[in-house]
Formats: sequence, structure tokens, C-alpha cells
Amino acid sequence: MSNPSSSKCRAVVLISGSGTNLQAFLDAVTAAECDYSIEAVISNKADAYGLTRAKSAGVATEVLSHRDFSDRESFDQAMIEVIDAYEPDLVILAGFMRILTPGFVRHYSGRMLNIHPSLLPKYQGLHTHQRALDAGDSEHGATVHFVTEELDGGPPVLQAAVPIEAGDDAGTLSQRVQVQEHIIYPMAATWFAQGRLKMAGDRAELDGELLPRSGKRLD
Ligand code: GAR
Repeated sequence: MSNPSSSKCRAVVLISGSGTNLQAFLDAVTAAECDYSIEAVISNKADAYGLTRAKSAGVATEVLSHRDFSDRESFDQAMIEVIDAYEPDLVILAGFMRILTPGFVRHYSGRMLNIHPSLLPKYQGLHTHQRALDAGDSEHGATVHFVTEELDGGPPVLQAAVPIEAGDDAGTLSQRVQVQEHIIYPMAATWFAQGRLKMAGDRAELDGELLPRSGKRLD
């Protein structure tokens, strides 16, 4: 049964760049039965290609440059004001490349998701694909997780793995991982929108059951 827009979970997406994950959400919400709506896309970079994707889909956009603020706290406070004008139930970080202040994270506690390109808890931080290659890992992947004050350290929700193949470099590996990102991120947002996914302390809970510490693994 289709879900009328007024009763849908309202999501706001934060980006800094290309926005391929954003595109996966924009594609998902064209389906009438999608349980969430994308109310706005907000970027800290005016030239982020994701803004073009949002405009093409008829979604509101906002740009707030961190360069216009003297410190992280004032930028994050201004972000809160812009985001909250859209009354979101869910904030989706999709390649939003900013370190968040504790106050910002607390404000959206339990209703902010991020996607990180590694099988967390492995490889928090940057250059994850190269680090997996350098370590000689046989697989790599991506994780959707709730955002807490620990960078890339919040409760994992859903992971997808890809095999590392002979001849892979960071570019080929990241492309293969992104195909999986575009599947698992809208899936996790749907669970949240359906009221099935919650943050329960340092774990995520799906359908009333605590998920494994590394999240559910996509089969
Ligand atoms: C994604 O691959 C995401 O995993 C990564 O940024 C990329 C954004 O791509 N996020 C992080 O590294 C966060 N720590 P996109 O703009 O094409 O969605």
C-alpha cells in the first residue's frame, strides 16, 4: 500500500561531493511505496555535484560553507538551524566530509546515519580502500552506522562485503564497494522509516533484537 507523503519519515541528506549515495536515495523515493521522503539536500560545498542531482530531482537544496564560520561550533549550530527548518525525522550523512561537534551529534542522537567505506570496526578514518589493500585483506566493504561522538565508531547497522581481487587498486575497489553502498544505505533508511531500526546504547536494534556488534551482514 502506498504511504501518503504526510505520514512518511522526513529525511534530510548532507553531502560534500559527488552524491552517488544521494542518487540512490533520490531513485528510491520515486517509488510510491517508499517509506521516507527527501525533504532537502544540504552541502558545505557550493560545487558539490550532488546539488545538481538534487535539483534535477526537484528536491530543495541549501549550501552552508564552513569557510564562512570562525569555528566548528558556530558552523554546526548554523547547520542545525538550516536542517531543523525541514523538521527531519532522520538525518542521512552521505559523503559529508566534516568532523562533527559533540553538540551536533547529540542533537540528532538516534536519528542520524552515516555510511563508511569499510567493514567497521576495521579502518575508521580515511583511505580505507588503500589500507585494506596494504593489509592484504581478502575482502573489503561498507557499513551503515548510527552516528555518535566517536568518529566512524557509532553502532553498526548493516554491512556489505566485496572480495578483493588480484590487480585491484583503490579506485577499482572503491567502485565495487560503492555498488554495495547504494544497496545497503537505502535499505537501512527504510528500516528506520518503518520504525524497525533503533539505536540502543552502543548497539543497533532491528525488530526488537540487538544486532551483532559489526551490524547485520547483507547476505
Ligand atoms: C562514499 O563512498 C562514502 O562511503 C564515503 O564517501 C563517499 C561519498 O560518495 N564516506 C566516508 O568516507 C565517510 N567517512 P558519494 O558522494 O558518491 O555518495
